[in-house]
Amino acid sequence: MLTEKYFIFNQNTVTINEGNFQWSAPSNIALVKYWGKKANQIPANPSISFTLNQCKTITKLAFSQKENKADFSFDLLFEGKPKEDFKPKIQKFFERIEVYCPYLKNYHFTIDTQNTFPHSSGIASSASGMAALAVNIMSLEKELNPNMSDNFFNEKASFLARLGSGSACRSINGNIVVWGNHKAIEGSSDLIGVEFPFKVHSNFNNYQDTILLVDKGEKQVSSTVGHDLMHNHPYAEQRFSQAHQNLSAIKTVLENGNLEQFIQIVESEALTLHAMMMTSMPYFILMKPNTLEIINRIWKFRNDTKIPVCFTLDAGANVHILYPENVSVETLQFIKDELVGYCQNGQYICDEIGFGSQLIIDN
Ligand code: DP6
Repeated sequence: MLTEKYFIFNQNTVTINEGNFQWSAPSNIALVKYWGKKANQIPANPSISFTLNQCKTITKLAFSQKENKADFSFDLLFEGKPKEDFKPKIQKFFERIEVYCPYLKNYHFTIDTQNTFPHSSGIASSASGMAALAVNIMSLEKELNPNMSDNFFNEKASFLARLGSGSACRSINGNIVVWGNHKAIEGSSDLIGVEFPFKVHSNFNNYQDTILLVDKGEKQVSSTVGHDLMHNHPYAEQRFSQAHQNLSAIKTVLENGNLEQFIQIVESEALTLHAMMMTSMPYFILMKPNTLEIINRIWKFRNDTKIPVCFTLDAGANVHILYPENVSVETLQFIKDELVGYCQNGQYICDEIGFGSQLIIDN
């Protein structure tokens, strides 16, 4: 079994003075949701997600050796301009990962980051953002330890990303990723995301995710506060065991391609996530009236046409519409005709299942 110790850096054979890397890392959409965590970013239940393809963070990391090795030192740019309000999150991330990456204080970093999706669209940028930073740091570590295997690179990148934001560990490698120990999924771990290790039915090839931007406003609850609400939640234990059952069920569905069951699990997970928020103390309703309009329209469309379209939600009002590639023409037409009116400024993003982080510049 993987342990935290496995990820502690202990090679110091090579000296590297400066360099820069650029990586992209995608967002992901959970099918079985992570909601609730223990100390050190350990999830309360296992989760599984589709990796996205278009919604990405692109981050460049430039580094140079510095004299004073007492503190972390970094500049943070967003779309090329200094962004002070992102710095505390990065500072905290560096503090959390220092024990695994003791070389960080030897360098001054310039982190230049941008998203392919509109800023404050309500699309979580923490998953793609932390994943993009983690893979860049691993590129530096690979320079310091050139014998590192690709497998270790991916595992440690996911491990570090998780310490930045839980769902980020599912954005490193693979198109369907499991995070959290589950008895039926060999190799699954609370410490890292692993690629779904079974053959996936062709129904899920190029699965589509059209994200309807219902409300681009600031999040009402940060995910940290949200996860905390699962402590002392009256339904917590039931929910955590349900997630294990749903992961077992979706494992079978991903293998046999049963879209009816897929829809049932995915929509139930989305509504359960929101039910947890509605029944916590304090309680929240993160759906907006338009979220419900969209859900009802999807149900009607599915009922009338038998096209296997379903929705899922994150901790917000936006709706992800999931559907197989072979029904995209009809589904996009339905979205344009019936759903765009419920989106803020008519905005939506067409995405699909993707493959994970990609190296763009390596020097
Ligand atoms: C509702 O990964 O954003 O999207 O670990 O506190 O950074 P932190 O939380 P985060 O939580 C995401 C929760 C979710 C469900 C999911 O992606 O599984």
